[in-house]
Amino acid sequence: MVNNKIHIFDTTLRDGEQVPGCKLNTKEKIEIALALEELGVDIIEAGFPISSPGDFASVEAISKVIKNTTVCGLTRAVEKDIEVAAAALKSAVRPRIHTGIGSSDIHIKHKFNTTREVILERAAKATKFARNFVDDVEFFAEDAGRADNEFLARLIETVIAAGATVVNIPDTTGYCLPHQYGEKIAYLVNNVPNIDKAIISCHCHNDLGLATANSIAGAIAGARQIECTINGIGERAGNTSLEEVVMVIKQHEKSLGGLYTDIKTQRLNPLSQLVSDTMRMPVQPNKAIVGMNAFAHSSGIHQDGFLKEAITYEIINPEEVGADGSKIVLTARSGRSALAHRFMKIGYEFSRNDIDVLYQQFLLVADTKKEVSNEDLHVLAKAYVPVEA
Ligand code: KIV
Ligand code: ZN
Repeated sequence: MVNNKIHIFDTTLRDGEQVPGCKLNTKEKIEIALALEELGVDIIEAGFPISSPGDFASVEAISKVIKNTTVCGLTRAVEKDIEVAAAALKSAVRPRIHTGIGSSDIHIKHKFNTTREVILERAAKATKFARNFVDDVEFFAEDAGRADNEFLARLIETVIAAGATVVNIPDTTGYCLPHQYGEKIAYLVNNVPNIDKAIISCHCHNDLGLATANSIAGAIAGARQIECTINGIGERAGNTSLEEVVMVIKQHEKSLGGLYTDIKTQRLNPLSQLVSDTMRMPVQPNKAIVGMNAFAHSSGIHQDGFLKEAITYEIINPEEVGADGSKIVLTARSGRSALAHRFMKIGYEFSRNDIDVLYQQFLLVADTKKEVSNEDLHVLAKAYVPVEA
């Protein structure tokens, strides 16, 4: 059977909340978790229960209120972590434990001061231990982006044999190029004998601005879960942005061989706003899909085309992603069509000749400001003496 569904694993409340200054309390986390469930994500990573009593309490509280979505807790490959995560997830309808360990030689040497063989043993032991508590165990091979593919394949085979149901291949440092990350996933698909027993997951960081591209390359190569955050928030330069991967998959469904997600895309902008407000972390204006300027047109050439037919400069209908709508911003780069259009919207109908004259006056105002407002236009319109026909 062809399986084209991409499971969306949201880690806004775990990896996303690791952003300095963005700490949330339990009430705020519950509000976001409920909104994520409404959005249609498949898995909510609610926190890292052993990390603090507050995080434990949040995972526990989220486990009680979420009814359909899988709730996941992060652990190191350490028995105590796993026991604590299992306790926090006790009330979850669909609990998942996400355990793992470093997989690159850099991590094995510098973080763990150990050998590949010991990593294999610890990984298998932690996975088996987690399976004592839940049926759904995801294993992460930290820094897989820089790991040797042959060793990574052995590690993944080992944890699947030990009971992992999902295998996460993180590009922890955002190092890979899209074709390299795609080849890594393809290597695992072709070289791990029991790979059909687990779902492969992409978890990409954005240090080089490639997280979305890498996640899509992973999905093309056979991964069926993508780990991401609202607004792409996360450690350093952030994680894969949920709204970006979801809309790439939706826009390119055919080219991607029928891949799809179950995300209700109209909820993307409201949820982006909720996360931004709750975390007090503004969204950059030019952010794809959810930035304030994602559907704003300010240059004359673009405005003229857009006003003739929106599709000339917009590949997504703003309504489809719950944005307020397209905006024509009047600046010194705007043209006559945008000016005439705005005058019409605020109640003035001018002839072409009138607009020619008014446009010169408009430019004088526009050169002194970042954006010309409706109030400025009212002033121009009221002072205007029409030219003789
Ligand atoms: O980036 C990473 O490797 C992680 C793991 C803990 C999954 O966040
Ligand atoms: Zn991460």
